[in-house]
Amino acid sequence: MKKLFVKTYGCQMNVYDSARMADLLAPLGYVPTQGPEDADMVILNTCHIREKAAEKVYSELGRLKKLKDARTQAGGAMTIAVAGCVAQAEGAEILARQSAVDLVVGPQSYHRLPEMIARLARSGGPALETDFPAQAKFDFLPEQDCGAGPAAFLSVQEGCDKFCTFCVVPYTRGSEYSRPAASVLAEAEGLVAKGAREITLLGQNVNAYRGAGPDGEPWTLARLITALAQMEGLQRLRYTTSHPRDMSDDLITAHREVAALMPHLHLPVQSGSDRVLQAMNRQHSASDYLRTVERVRAARPDIALSSDFIVGFPGETDADFEETLSLVRLVGYAQSFSFKYSARPGTPAAARKQVPEDVKSARLQALQALLGAQQDEFNAACAGRVLSVLFEKPGRKEGQGVGRTPYLQPVHVNGAASLIGQLADVRIDAVHANSLKGTLAHSAVRKKVLVH
Ligand code: SAH
Ligand code: SF4
Ligand code: F3S
Repeated sequence: MKKLFVKTYGCQMNVYDSARMADLLAPLGYVPTQGPEDADMVILNTCHIREKAAEKVYSELGRLKKLKDARTQAGGAMTIAVAGCVAQAEGAEILARQSAVDLVVGPQSYHRLPEMIARLARSGGPALETDFPAQAKFDFLPEQDCGAGPAAFLSVQEGCDKFCTFCVVPYTRGSEYSRPAASVLAEAEGLVAKGAREITLLGQNVNAYRGAGPDGEPWTLARLITALAQMEGLQRLRYTTSHPRDMSDDLITAHREVAALMPHLHLPVQSGSDRVLQAMNRQHSASDYLRTVERVRAARPDIALSSDFIVGFPGETDADFEETLSLVRLVGYAQSFSFKYSARPGTPAAARKQVPEDVKSARLQALQALLGAQQDEFNAACAGRVLSVLFEKPGRKEGQGVGRTPYLQPVHVNGAASLIGQLADVRIDAVHANSLKGTLAHSAVRKKVLVH
């Protein structure tokens, strides 16, 4: 038996890919371990989205080299692989910068890992695979096993054809590809059989999903969601990340009609200024976005909205930034992510005149203060309410269970550890900065039992 440690950076698609890499290596005798110290193989599944994310990889590799050297001196061995978006973007450079790396594999080629490991054993030299193979990796992956809990991820779409001028994803993940509906449904069935009660459908542009249906006609995401909602045992569905331009009528209607579809939507807007949105090549205006939000809220009035924002995009003025703050005030977000613009090699905006760092920092601080206040307000409004919670894992305290509300807020509940894998009604008692605290709404359950 050999030990495998996978460290994941970046988005949920990487979380999904990491679990699939573990699945791929299981037949070779690799079992997951919690840290690099006792691992025979370490995979860093990397993110290239901002400079900081990419640089972290090299410092981590420096630490791993020391571990590997010590192991080699003691007569042992360690294999180090770099996967994910940094591998795709900087494959050859990684091998040149860090001699301890044995394997470099891109996000569309990791199904070849077993073959690469065999090649490495034969030749001893490093191996690199960063093609976008014509045949999708999904056809080669074994059934999901590692990492699938009560709330599972399922990648249905990959890549991006939008080419926002700040973003590396179209280069690291390649062009848009949607998995056939039948293969998604089969994977979902397997997950439910293993205890998943909630599935989040993943894609860089998940609402642009157009997978082939059983008759060859493409299915939309709404159609896929509707089919999944029929599946016995599958109680909750989510999807992320959506592009505002692809929020089609049928998907919005699904929020009204499909009970299993949770009232939460991550819909990144990036900026509230039309000038900046145009320079970003987002292909929508601020008012287009606001109209979409209105349509979504008409279908599902309690929907919790979240977004991503970039401040200090090249050319962003104070007035542009004010427009972002205005848009945030108009929408009212339950939760959001915000970042300083980071110039990425090879993207069009990187070559433009940059906004000074101190201006970016001040804008980020102002935006985060506003978003934080909105998040607090959203959470505070949940106090005293009874919400359904899917318990996913034990909490830090003995007997505690941690789960999520329909709005994706984490909730800690004492005495709920035995409910992991199940949904239960929870009364929200207290609201903390990043999570809620609740108690099981026992009385409701007991009353039901007495009546029967
Ligand atoms: N596909 C999604 C998001 C992809 S990346 C979408 O279209 O919205 C996740 C987030 O990282 C983006 O929404 C954006 O806010 C941020 N991001 C991407 N490139 C960035 C860059 N160069 N600098 C700072 N933030 C960036
Ligand atoms: Fe990047 Fe834009 Fe594609 Fe999102 S839509 S992945 S931000 S290029
Ligand atoms: Fe990062 Fe690649 Fe995801 S760049 S955000 S890991 S698609």
